[in-house]
Amino acid sequence: MTLTGKSVVITGAATGIGRGITECVLKSGANVTIVGRREEPLRDLADRYGPAVTVVATDICAPGAAEQIVAAATESFGRLDAVVNNAGLARFGRLESIDPALFDAMFAVNVRAPAELIRCALPQLRANRGSVVNISSVGGALSMPGRAFYGATKAALNSLTRSLARELAPDVRVNAIMPGPVETPMWNETGLDEAGTRRLRADLLSSTPMGRFGDESEIGRWVCVLLDPEVSAWMTGALIPVDGGRTA
Ligand SMILES: NC(=O)c1ccc[n+]([C@@H]2O[C@H](COP(=O)([O-])OP(=O)(O)OC[C@H]3O[C@@H](n4cnc5c(N)ncnc54)[C@H](OP(=O)(O)O)[C@@H]3O)[C@@H](O)[C@H]2O)c1
Repeated sequence: MTLTGKSVVITGAATGIGRGITECVLKSGANVTIVGRREEPLRDLADRYGPAVTVVATDICAPGAAEQIVAAATESFGRLDAVVNNAGLARFGRLESIDPALFDAMFAVNVRAPAELIRCALPQLRANRGSVVNISSVGGALSMPGRAFYGATKAALNSLTRSLARELAPDVRVNAIMPGPVETPMWNETGLDEAGTRRLRADLLSSTPMGRFGDESEIGRWVCVLLDPEVSAWMTGALIPVDGGRTA
């Protein structure tokens, strides 16, 4: 598997699953434009990999962010072949207790910003017969009591993936990965208290047939598979669970 010479944008690249994806994509030989709001963790990653990495520190929901990201990738590497929409926001809570404004915030990060980034990247993706990988969640396919808003945004991302796969074929492939539970910084920022987080961890573990959480690299390797046209040129509109059997 090789991505040598390709230019890939990855959002939410400095932590958790995004970091796992970035390291796999870099090891496969691609140049990478890494995106997040906090500059420091992005710079740390860039310092380790040198000129194969360009940093864009921005909020993907900010006006003009998508244009800025695409311009940085094309200026740094002369082209753009692929977009990995990984950045995500997860805020949990039952319907009566969760602030409805959080639904808008999650929709903006998990659905609207990915769509906008694909739209801005489209001329480059078309010209290079490129591809998109959206990092969704098993929450987009399963019922999610206590996490309904988050699940709804990931279901919307799945729908966007399938519709755009048809709309943009045969020039641009659009696929999604639905990770199961992977222990990342996100788990400490869901809005649940300590006891709630402990219960969630235990529930997720007991409902995962493989009996363990996933590793970031296990998602990263699948992203590389989907980006590599030698392997996946005939795949578009796929929603792939990489989840330790949680959706089985
Ligand atoms: N962990 C799991 O169990 C799991 C399971 C299924 C799916 N997922 C999905 O996997 C993806 C990665 O999540 P993770 O678990 O790796 O959590 P994470 O470590 O918290 O990663 C989220 C990343 O997104 C970036 N980000 C968030 N909002 C942003 C914004 N508005 N603009 C730019 N960057 C933003 C964050 O960086 P900054 O804070 O610096 O902006 C961070 O690097 C998400 O889409 C998540 O829904 C996770």
